[in-house]
Amino acid sequence: MEFRKNKAFPTDFLWGASTSSFQVEGAWQEDGKGLSVIDVMKKNPKITDFTVAVDHYHRMKEDVALMAELGLKVYRFSIAWTRIFPSGRGDINQKGVDFYNDLIDELCKYGIEPLVTIYHFDYPQSLVEEYGGWMSRKSVEDYRAYAEFLFQTYGDRVKYWLTINEQDHVVRIPSRLGLTGENKYEQLKLGYQANHHMCVATAETIKTFHKLGLKGKIGPAVSFSMIHPASSNPDDVLASQDAMLVKHNYLLDLHCNGEYRAPLWQYLLDRDFAPKIEDGDMQLMKENPPTMIGVNYYFSETVKAFPVSEEFPLGYQKESLLPEAEAGVFQVIKNNELTATDWGWEIDPLGLRLTLRELHERYHLPLIITENGMGAYDKLEAGDVVNDDYRISYLREHIKQTKLAINDGVTVLGYCSWSFMDIVSGRNGIDKRYGFVYINRENFDLKDMRRIKKKSFYWYQKVITSNGETLS
Ligand code: BG6
Repeated sequence: MEFRKNKAFPTDFLWGASTSSFQVEGAWQEDGKGLSVIDVMKKNPKITDFTVAVDHYHRMKEDVALMAELGLKVYRFSIAWTRIFPSGRGDINQKGVDFYNDLIDELCKYGIEPLVTIYHFDYPQSLVEEYGGWMSRKSVEDYRAYAEFLFQTYGDRVKYWLTINEQDHVVRIPSRLGLTGENKYEQLKLGYQANHHMCVATAETIKTFHKLGLKGKIGPAVSFSMIHPASSNPDDVLASQDAMLVKHNYLLDLHCNGEYRAPLWQYLLDRDFAPKIEDGDMQLMKENPPTMIGVNYYFSETVKAFPVSEEFPLGYQKESLLPEAEAGVFQVIKNNELTATDWGWEIDPLGLRLTLRELHERYHLPLIITENGMGAYDKLEAGDVVNDDYRISYLREHIKQTKLAINDGVTVLGYCSWSFMDIVSGRNGIDKRYGFVYINRENFDLKDMRRIKKKSFYWYQKVITSNGETLS
């Protein structure tokens, strides 16, 4: 839809950038930190692990000063659960508590709003060993108690909280659940049970948040993007709706409405994936919905129908970590209208507007973009220059679409690009760079970890000072 006049960004719009603890901190075994599932994950010999990351743990003040120079209004970061509770519960590690106190104080000193992710993939390994982690009902209370501790400790300064980052990825990626994933069916069955526990844990946590009388907003950060039908063939349209259901909608329908929608429940029963639900679970979720939704958006997908056949029987799935095809449900195909990043992620800025509108219409909650960015092979040129025009172009187009979504009537509280500085990518090491700040290290050569401002840093600085009016 086009309009005669378009609204500007609200004056209190939260311009930001994000990171997560294990992707930036390093110091994986320092100052009493316990092990997380990330620390014990099988290493890929071709890329770096997360042990040093970008050494943010030791360079926190330098990094926050750069955030202030960039002009950030909000900084999204996650707390490493095992820095606070090395064993996931019980004994508290004061040095870990102090680290985040110092970080939050430093942000407040510069007037930067902290946006805290309570848990971003780095689940305590000891809870996996003790009772199977998220697969056990016991995980609910341990997560809630950890979150309560964070509310009590940091809630005087933190107003915005994200409960669980990309729960769907945790459910689907075996190592993030502490599983080997050797038995696909078993892993998916356990994954859906884990998913249910995470939803109950989130509702319990939101209940605690309100009980403590905390002001501010809380909700999950979900990976959510529109899934387009490959054609006007009704079979493809059905495939796109089914893909939306099993990949995205199922999760927020639980968090926001406390329901397994009929077609989803039918699917779970049919595949024998249905989780065990205890009395009161659904009511608890209904009564304690999030008060905002964090949206991680990178790309859209396009799907066509994928009928069951002899070659591809029901239950057949193709994944490159996340599902790309499921017999009898959908099959992702290349969208020839879109270009893609070096990693094949299809660039679809308009897909962000559609995503924001979809979420707004379905759940009627304020949204905050918690991740959006472009992973690329950046080149450090002579004189400490990184000409990342491709990133500027990616971000510009997505910010334009965010503005259009606001104009459509969607409440968007802020925009946090992924990532503030280069992080160690979840699956691609340090080669896949995302930041406004270049970190001078390679996969196996730590160099001097110098912080270097990229061209996009200066560009985003202007975007922020002009409140999104200067995008070129
Ligand atoms: C999101 C995660 O899935 O995508 C981040 O929340 C991650 O942790 C980001 O880094 C980009 O993915 P990747 O695989 O390119 O690092």
